[in-house]
Amino acid sequence: MRTEIHEFCRITSGTVLDAGAGCCRDAVQMARGGRDVVAVDAVPALLEAGPPHARVRPVAADVRDLPLRGSSVGAVWCSAVLLHMDATGLVTALGEFLRVLTPDGFAHISLKEGDGRSVEPMADSTEHRRHFFAYPLGRLRDLCADAGFGVDRTWTGEQADSGGTVQTWRKLLLRPLG
Ligand SMILES: C[S@@+](CC[C@H](N)C(=O)[O-])C[C@H]1O[C@@H](n2cnc3c(N)ncnc32)[C@H](O)[C@@H]1O
Repeated sequence: MRTEIHEFCRITSGTVLDAGAGCCRDAVQMARGGRDVVAVDAVPALLEAGPPHARVRPVAADVRDLPLRGSSVGAVWCSAVLLHMDATGLVTALGEFLRVLTPDGFAHISLKEGDGRSVEPMADSTEHRRHFFAYPLGRLRDLCADAGFGVDRTWTGEQADSGGTVQTWRKLLLRPLG
């Protein structure tokens, strides 16, 4: 991940939107590399949990309805977030990324590799459950196109998820369609 973030910062410029930043681990790494980062997450407590950084601006919001101006960021980083959305939510979030991104910008998204939907219990709640959606690559390409993005590059990587299980992750580097 560190190498991937480094490479993403190398090929992009301007403010980075970390969409679904969690406790800002990736946002802080980008900030340490000299980038201004807007870290958006739906859970304010997560945004407050990590170490603060002067270049990271935490914003509690839904990535499907971003409180950001159009063309206001040069890059969007969205790691392990869109896997919690059905196709409609995913296209809505991507549409928001497209709106806030400059026309020459890149978006990097990562989701679990697979196909289908699953629901898992939450360790700290009997009321809420975690919903996971996985999409085959062809379907992802179509959803990205529906939102106005083309796939510049795609690859996979093995990484542990938040539960410690090693997963195959599908990564896509997106550019706005002309
Ligand atoms: C698995 S964590 C990934 C966190 C971080 N991107 C990382 O890679 O470490 C998923 C994050 O997405 C956030 N999230 C899920 N749906 C969201 C939404 N619609 N709007 C904003 N944040 C959302 C969750 O609150 C959680 O912090």
